[in-house]
Amino acid sequence: MAGIEIAPSVLPADFARLGDEVAALEAAGVDRIQWDVMDGQFVPNLTFGPDVIAAARPFASVPFEAHLMVLHPERMAEAYVRAGCQRLIVHVEACTHLHRTLTQITSLGATAAVALNPATPAAAVAQVLDLVDLVLVMTVNPGFGGQKYISTMEAKVREVRAMLDAAGLAKVDVEVDGGVGPATVAGAVRAGANVLVAGSALYRDPKGLTHAVADLRKRAESAATTH
Ligand code: DX5
Repeated sequence: MAGIEIAPSVLPADFARLGDEVAALEAAGVDRIQWDVMDGQFVPNLTFGPDVIAAARPFASVPFEAHLMVLHPERMAEAYVRAGCQRLIVHVEACTHLHRTLTQITSLGATAAVALNPATPAAAVAQVLDLVDLVLVMTVNPGFGGQKYISTMEAKVREVRAMLDAAGLAKVDVEVDGGVGPATVAGAVRAGANVLVAGSALYRDPKGLTHAVADLRKRAESAATTH
């Protein structure tokens, strides 16, 4: 299994100070930062345009990834790459021509990744695994932070990991997003996830972001060695 990565969601951050917030996340020891891009159509919420991400880009050196919870992600892909996102994650449910869209993202110089909503089977991405560097298994229904982790998704994490390994794609990461925290991270990692998106769990830690990131990483790495 590839190494554990902590990829915080900026959804719970102070939107009035996003530059300082991404700097604080980097200082807290995260591996990358995930921007939850929402269009109010694919999900019932509206968040970050490319200009917002571009404004925050200079404040951190860790990679940015855009989780595009949007319809027609192919229309905005170039703008998010130009804004400074090294990885774009598109939803299989939002793409009429997923194979073409993933190829388009790679042609833009970013790495391509695909996300699955809770009701979408792993088989939906079977034909594009060779085009991605990560598969995101959503552990909540997308649109909001602070939701309850859907533990039945661990079976899908296991299935995706097995599909990747069977295809000789051990280098492709499996990411989980939604309700990931101290009480749920071990189950996700034991199922095969190695990139962990967390928002609420990091920001609600009374000991602060650095403690929260280190604690989540420690729990994940411990689970990885025992699974
Ligand atoms: C989808 C969003 C959330 C967020 C993390 O709704 O992508 O999953 O990133 O949410 P929490 O607060 O559950 O970690």
